[in-house]
Amino acid sequence: MDYHPEVLFDELTIKNRIAELGAQITHDYAGQEIVVVCVLKGAFVFCADLIKEINLPIRLEFISLSSYGDKTASSGEVKKNLDITGKIRGENVLVVEDIVDTGLTIETLFRDLSSREPRTMKLASLLFKPEKLKADVDIDYLAFEIEDQFVIGFGLDYAQRYRELPYIGVLNQA
Ligand code: IMP
Repeated sequence: MDYHPEVLFDELTIKNRIAELGAQITHDYAGQEIVVVCVLKGAFVFCADLIKEINLPIRLEFISLSSYGDKTASSGEVKKNLDITGKIRGENVLVVEDIVDTGLTIETLFRDLSSREPRTMKLASLLFKPEKLKADVDIDYLAFEIEDQFVIGFGLDYAQRYRELPYIGVLNQA
């Protein structure tokens, strides 16, 4: 392949930041159980590492949304490919996302999940690109804010590739 990712955040930097977020979440929800909703596919690596840093009882759910197809710009249309299987009514829901770009994915997801009446609903995201934000989105637990550039690795893909990289990188066409 003709691409050579440049490292933006290395493995150790990500690990340390996730440990900080886990400690903050553990503190904020002390004495309660949370339902973590992992947004597939991109958030699976972040979510797997984050839940190991949360010292509380957790019920894990998965939901799959897509908005990009195989392109690097959002199509603006959010499709639900897979829904959670458990109930969230009356629960503390923590949605775990890979990246908030336009915010349309998370806005659509929050509208959908709120209609199921959780007790509380918060958002954890690995990355945030504020420049393209079009929706009203608050990120309660954010690992890193980045510039408007296309990133891959640590679960994030370009045309379904690079998810396995242990770091977050930027694609530079060689
Ligand atoms: P939004 O709806 O524009 O906020 O886009 C959110 C979704 O687009 C994320 O969950 C990712 O799957 C994808 N996405 C946005 N920016 C990037 C990127 O830089 N790299 C890989 N995927 C991205």
